[in-house]
Amino acid sequence: MASRTIRLAVIGGDGIGPEVVAEALKVLRAAAHDVTINETSYDLGARRWHRTGETLPDAVLEEIRGHDAILLGAVGDPGVPSGVLERGLLLRLRFELDQYVNLRPVRLYPGVTTPLAAARAENIDMVVVREGTEGPYAGAGGVMRKGTPGEIATQESLNTAFGVHRVARYAFGRAMGRPRRKLTLVHKTNVLTYAGDLWQRTVDSLAKEFADVSVDYCHVDAASMFFVTQPERFDVVVTDNLFGDILTDLGAAVAGGIGLAASGNINPEGAAPSMFEPVHGSAPDIAGRQKADPSAAILSAALLCDHLGLTAEAAKIEQAVAEDLVERQGAWARRSTPEIGDDIAERVASLGRCFVRRPRAADSRAARRKGGSPPPGPPASRQDTGPHAAGGASRLIRSCQLGPSPRTSRLTCRSSVSRGRSPGVWFSMLRRMAGGKEDFPR
Ligand code: IPM
Ligand code: MN
Repeated sequence: MASRTIRLAVIGGDGIGPEVVAEALKVLRAAAHDVTINETSYDLGARRWHRTGETLPDAVLEEIRGHDAILLGAVGDPGVPSGVLERGLLLRLRFELDQYVNLRPVRLYPGVTTPLAAARAENIDMVVVREGTEGPYAGAGGVMRKGTPGEIATQESLNTAFGVHRVARYAFGRAMGRPRRKLTLVHKTNVLTYAGDLWQRTVDSLAKEFADVSVDYCHVDAASMFFVTQPERFDVVVTDNLFGDILTDLGAAVAGGIGLAASGNINPEGAAPSMFEPVHGSAPDIAGRQKADPSAAILSAALLCDHLGLTAEAAKIEQAVAEDLVERQGAWARRSTPEIGDDIAERVASLGRCFVRRPRAADSRAARRKGGSPPPGPPASRQDTGPHAAGGASRLIRSCQLGPSPRTSRLTCRSSVSRGRSPGVWFSMLRRMAGGKEDFPR
């Protein structure tokens, strides 16, 4: 019997939005099989605007407010004037539901190609905490003498002490939950002296409270350079709405492309539903052809699970995507959007049968010394992923065997540490070892 019910508002939107959302839902259902997911679909976006002229009617907003979370595909098409859906639908949802954290992990998964020649998976693992309700996005400003040579247009950046404090506090909290415990404030304090000063003072005062977090600062122009030249510099980045918008597209690019970039618009207190969406847009050029990569939407569903406290489900989804990403680098035929969704959902289901949690390197080592199983622990969390998990995996791999075929094989583990666990990323790594392409930390 289902132990929990989740009311999920689904906004497929336009273009490839409904296609990728269908796959994210498929994977979500597979991961949270013992959770009842009550979905309500909302017809919002360009199609509705063309039909009725509406962006987000108040009554619809109020209905959406009654949900536990929102899954959004993408909205917009070239026939809608710029700003109509952005301000009238997407930003309105973020603002009205007070989703003041725009959470964007930037992680290079093993096996994914990055345009950075020297980068390795363990070099790019950060999370950008972008402020989501203020800054230049607030909509303050106006225009005078429009269309004349004397036109004046202003667009102000609004930064409230309350708004900066709450997002910075959230970012410190995130940093505390990650092994490196490093926070970098990104701004432009040397030019935006009023707003920058507020951000800097806020971070400085919180730093006293979070003494375990090491704090760094980077101007946004330099940060853009370091995202490319030294991405390993960053762990948690906290920044204003517009800087975060720009930086996270750059982050998506260095971590393998916008097709993999997930995001959450989060109301941390849960006073209103949070909204999860891929960073990419509606891609009208490939819409309706099932060519889109649903991975970003699927990873956004993992963020959704994490937010709702379904941490084991979130970890399963992320692990299934990570495995799929390694395998898709091989000689596979190109898959359609639903084929990728099916494959990931299948992996999630098989993880569900044997998933305990991914061991941390230290746990594995301790267990190996004792010759027993690792100590029981909480479900996998995002903290268990990344270079640390990879290091543990590389140690265990040595006692495992490949199955007969790349798509169906599973590791046969000789070690008592790994027996009964999902082969997970280990499988992919072993395949790469077998191919002589071992490139993970020992
Ligand atoms: C994003 C998008 C949006 C933003 C647009 C569509 C309003 O670029 O989610 O990053 O600027 O936040
Ligand atoms: Mn953007």
